[in-house]
Amino acid sequence: MPLRATTPGTVLYFHSLSGHVHVPVPTPRKDEVLLKVEASSLNAFDWKIKKGVARPILPRKFPYIPATDVAGEIIEVGSEVKNFKAGYNVVAILNHFGVGHYAVQLAKLGNSHVTATCGARNIEFVKSLGADEVLDYKTPDGAALKSPSGRKYDAVIQCATGIPWSTFEPNLAKNGKVIDLTPGPSAMLTFAWQKLTFSKKQLVPLLVIPKGENLVFLVKLLKEGKIKTLIDSKHLLGKAEDAWGKSADGHATGKIILEP
Ligand SMILES: NC(=O)c1ccc[n+]([C@@H]2O[C@H](COP(=O)([O-])OP(=O)(O)OC[C@H]3O[C@@H](n4cnc5c(N)ncnc54)[C@H](OP(=O)(O)O)[C@@H]3O)[C@@H](O)[C@H]2O)c1
Repeated sequence: MPLRATTPGTVLYFHSLSGHVHVPVPTPRKDEVLLKVEASSLNAFDWKIKKGVARPILPRKFPYIPATDVAGEIIEVGSEVKNFKAGYNVVAILNHFGVGHYAVQLAKLGNSHVTATCGARNIEFVKSLGADEVLDYKTPDGAALKSPSGRKYDAVIQCATGIPWSTFEPNLAKNGKVIDLTPGPSAMLTFAWQKLTFSKKQLVPLLVIPKGENLVFLVKLLKEGKIKTLIDSKHLLGKAEDAWGKSADGHATGKIILEP
């Protein structure tokens, strides 16, 4: 079900790949709900779309509504919407970011031994999330992804960019997999080659397709205190450019929040 996310009076749209405008509150179509946004989280995907990296798929047309993680109250529903009513408080994570800190926590909940990489300033924070070993990605061992205890990895969740297969391969267990959240052209070639050669060690490109049941599961874990969300910074919707810059800078720690 599509969402129309808004604060009454203003809606932030891109009107081109170079800027944004405020436009009137939209009317929900028959299968949409109109949401009064309490908070939204800006994602790397949003500014990547703004830069035009996903063209011609996204944006298909202008004006385009960015920011796909939203929480707020439904104020109007389309004629064919059955499961939601005006007054419902909802959260929608349609493309969640700040992914590394969730990946560590979810892996620990799955009883895995977790080796994480991050910048030096975040080592203690990542340990507090439950990581068993933490590497500074700017050190030689960190850049080589070498486990301090000499372990080989069964699974790697790749949330960074620019790490070649040749760095992953020697660190993987016999059937080890790299789940790549940032696959570029060379990752896609590696994926295709490994399929053709029936490789046991594999790179698996992953594009998150959000599902309601997974979101319900994550919200339950949050409510039970089993996972936590770190907020990097909060920005006013009217100053979205500041948030944009922070996200594009690539050095946020956790979520970047926009509030009306
Ligand atoms: N495929 C999908 O469906 C999907 C879904 C969600 C996200 N993603 C992608 O996942 C990526 C991560 O998203 P994000 O929102 O978590 O990014 P982010 O918040 O911008 O990540 C910034 C953090 O990553 C750290 N970092 C940078 N390079 C690193 C490296 N080589 N090793 C370890 N840590 C490193 C930075 O540390 P310092 O500041 O110390 O440098 C900073 O703490 C993005 O490229 C996004 O597009 C894809």
